[in-house]
Amino acid sequence: MILLDGKKLSKTIKEEIKLEVDEIRNQGGNIPHLAAVIVGDNPASESYVKNKAKSSDEVGFESTIIKKDANISEEELLEIVDGLNRNDDVDGFIVQLPLPRHIDPDNIILAIDPKKDVDGFHPFNFGSMAQNLEAYLPATPYGILLMLERYNVETEGKSVVVLGRSNIVGSPISILLARRGNPGNATVTIAHSKTENLDELLQSADIIVAAIGRAKFIKNHQIKEGAVIIDVGINSIEDATRKRGYRLVGDVDFDDVKDKVSHITPVPGGVGPMTVTALLLNTLKASKNK
Ligand code: GUN
Repeated sequence: MILLDGKKLSKTIKEEIKLEVDEIRNQGGNIPHLAAVIVGDNPASESYVKNKAKSSDEVGFESTIIKKDANISEEELLEIVDGLNRNDDVDGFIVQLPLPRHIDPDNIILAIDPKKDVDGFHPFNFGSMAQNLEAYLPATPYGILLMLERYNVETEGKSVVVLGRSNIVGSPISILLARRGNPGNATVTIAHSKTENLDELLQSADIIVAAIGRAKFIKNHQIKEGAVIIDVGINSIEDATRKRGYRLVGDVDFDDVKDKVSHITPVPGGVGPMTVTALLLNTLKASKNK
């Protein structure tokens, strides 16, 4: 079994980014600046945003976190987005999801200037991605592509089953793996809560991308010998042996499947760090495009 070590690979890619930023700095160029907006105090979102800012600092970017109370109105949040769109100093920004229920995330995403949309969530970027045109790829799917590429996992002609059809992972990764290219050229099936023959599909999959948010959902008996597992799930389960009382696990039962798979991403330390690294690459690109 080969561990697809996102922590190690993201460190390598971040070193590459830092070299490039050092070079830009030496030549007096534009230092990439990533801003993140976070609303409310969802602990998972806070930890993700902190990680994004810390990684930005590590590679020599400028970073800004804008934190707002959960009771901010949609109009006020739209004003912040508008301010970031107009701020020449900011190359790219994200609005961390989920947002409080009284704010429609679609309205916020639509308000982001696609040129600064380093999350790749705006329909302009999504549509460009789907048509294989120049675009900011959504960070998690982009991170998965980088991982498949750097670990030389063949996708051409393979059957891929993607579990989950969210706008930020399931849907875009299915498009990216099916489109012409490398990684790509795969035969992709999207499975979701209404899928009837899930066991049959999983059994036939050379590559499984699990993004449904259900702890240890996929077990050994459901997968094919030698399957490649990309586990996007980050689920917290009780664990009395840990000081904090819980631990993070994926959508796949790692210990159960590890001796049957050819490659697998751990949770934590797999897809998560690659998402952050992909965001940095998008921000670097945004600053160069300016
Ligand atoms: N929430 C979960 N994943 C993401 C992400 O990649 N970007 C943003 N903005 N919010 C998220």
